[in-house]
Amino acid sequence: MRKGLFITVEGTDGSGKTTQIKLMEEFLKSAGNEVVLSREPGGTQISEMIRDLILDPKNTDISPLTEMMLYAAARAQHVFQVIKPALDSGKCVICDRFVDSSFAYQGCGRGVDLKTVADVNRAAVDGIVPDITFFLDIDPHLAIQRRIKTTGADRIEQEKMDFHTRVYEGYRKMALLYPDRIKTIDASKSIEEISSQIKLYLTEII
Ligand code: TMP
Repeated sequence: MRKGLFITVEGTDGSGKTTQIKLMEEFLKSAGNEVVLSREPGGTQISEMIRDLILDPKNTDISPLTEMMLYAAARAQHVFQVIKPALDSGKCVICDRFVDSSFAYQGCGRGVDLKTVADVNRAAVDGIVPDITFFLDIDPHLAIQRRIKTTGADRIEQEKMDFHTRVYEGYRKMALLYPDRIKTIDASKSIEEISSQIKLYLTEII
């Protein structure tokens, strides 16, 4: 029986998710919650192995459908091994990316049929839907420069700018489709301003 709170954080590469996730963790812990931090693709040994495979710059010949299924496979293991057990035991799970990333990147970015993305991921998530999702909204040009400057570029980040723009537009469309769950946060603001907006939403939900 699920009792915990499932929070996901989404956005294009370089949108500042990592910083905000750390601040969210501190905030939730200080309010007395047990918090589990995780990320996708990843979060379990098998899922991290799939992550290495997908993001390796050498693997340029992965087909869009294969890529989508690999992300979903990593997710299925993550849900099974980490997310479900943590939620069942009443913990707060903050996950850096979840199924919205597959709609934005594989569906809108790479053009995989959205119904196929939905069907495959329906199996992978096994009924788990985030209680709240923060979409860190920032111009993809700005975001990608920021990310490459700090950590270098992996295979996905080396994609052409029009790919990142399609991903960004995909997120914006999803935020309009699911306004109750997906909260759009202006990520061009200062770290403190972004964090206080997120905390307002978290206060409402916990
Ligand atoms: P990260 O750098 O935020 O950890 O994410 C790794 C990359 O994987 C990022 O470019 C987004 C991409 N990604 C997808 O394309 N589909 C997915 O379902 C997920 C979870 C990530």
